[in-house]
Amino acid sequence: MKLTIIGCGYLGATHAAAMAELGHQVLGMDTDTEKVDALNKGQAPFHERGLDDLLTKHTTTGNLRFTASYAEAGAFADVHFLGVGTPQQSDSDAYDLTHLFAAVRSLTPWLADNTLIIGKSTVPVGTTKILREILHEHSRDFANIKLAWSPEFLRESFAVADTLRPDRIVLGLAPGDTTSEAVFRAVYAEILRCGSPLIVTDLLTAELTKSAANAFLATKISFINAMAELCEAAGADVHELVAALAYDTRIGPRGMRPGLGFGGGCLPKDVRGIIARAEELGAGQAVSFLREVDAINLRRRDRMVDLAREQCGGTLIGKRIAVWGAAFKPDTDDIRDSPALAVADALHRAGAEVTVHDPMATDNARKAFPHLEYTDDATAAVTGAGLLLHLTEWTHYRDADPADLRRHIAVPKVIDGRGTLDRERWRTAGWTHRALGRP
Ligand code: UDX
Repeated sequence: MKLTIIGCGYLGATHAAAMAELGHQVLGMDTDTEKVDALNKGQAPFHERGLDDLLTKHTTTGNLRFTASYAEAGAFADVHFLGVGTPQQSDSDAYDLTHLFAAVRSLTPWLADNTLIIGKSTVPVGTTKILREILHEHSRDFANIKLAWSPEFLRESFAVADTLRPDRIVLGLAPGDTTSEAVFRAVYAEILRCGSPLIVTDLLTAELTKSAANAFLATKISFINAMAELCEAAGADVHELVAALAYDTRIGPRGMRPGLGFGGGCLPKDVRGIIARAEELGAGQAVSFLREVDAINLRRRDRMVDLAREQCGGTLIGKRIAVWGAAFKPDTDDIRDSPALAVADALHRAGAEVTVHDPMATDNARKAFPHLEYTDDATAAVTGAGLLLHLTEWTHYRDADPADLRRHIAVPKVIDGRGTLDRERWRTAGWTHRALGRP
């Protein structure tokens, strides 16, 4: 089938490559010409495991191309996916939908008759009503344009695998739409054949599924981090608590790792976005607990700074601190709302001399936080420092040799913000080891 993907960020570029892998002819469209040029050369403008290989494979055969032209996209196919980014507004908790609306406005005049548009962007519930108005206003033949919604649940660093083997696919259809499901099933035939369940529902429920899923995931993380706060007050150990809780299959271990909390381009934004939308709908009270989920999450960062200050003898002024980790999670170069960089920046503002190491994300970090020091060598970051903070759980750090590092650091103190360093090993090597949520 011929498909386009409008918007080629983390979601769209991955979706385009995955659709080509399924055997479709795909045209990705993005207004950023630099991004388009890179993608046409088989290079994603961000790191995502396996993505460059797929891009190279399919741009080479010609089954995958990228363009900056809406006219070309409109003429290319009659199935269009929307993958445009919907960040948080700069001055409110709500989603910024201006790029999404602009994209649909620009694409609509070029659409062929009998077109299906499938939205994948994360949006507040009710957005498809506005999109239908835009389509109505700008199309030649509104009656023959269908709008469906199929939110994307991919995790960064597993994006290719999650797109090709999703744990479920959700499809929201407009009332009376009797034709789009068959087209959708044809696009996803290979994935459905492999067993991914398809839930067909209405547009509003489909829109809500994504923000509800992320609000739940955020709540699970903040729940265990609230227990970490309690553990710190009581002298208990949150990691042993998780192990004990996880045996209850209703709770389970996944998505409940305590530590410095959640960041990235999705969970923080989606928690705030669903609150903002619920308040607009007069249902704010129903999700008011999510404000605390957000607050618990941000308090973990403050707690890390307090612990660092405590370990530095009560003041951070002039203290040399090594920070391991800049990405919001391992195996990505994404630093959006990174807890690690928020802590590094707070330490800097409190007077510390901070040196940051990350295996992949320092280029992006340097652009966003140019006042911090960076190094490409994890040992160099530690050399001469008075404290080491472990803030993103790369395996590279878990596998580091504390005995060797002990010879480089001035004061052998480490605070583990992610709970993945082997406490006994570090203590045996002569380190003072502290961790969030542990005595
Ligand atoms: C998330 C959702 O998982 C995904 O379904 C959705 O489509 C997009 O948002 P992502 O942002 O890629 O995906 O990362 P995820 O792996 O969920 O982690 C988000 C943040 O939570 C990271 O900062 C991570 O370090 C943190 N986290 C995750 C925890 O602190 N504890 C956990 O147990 C899990």
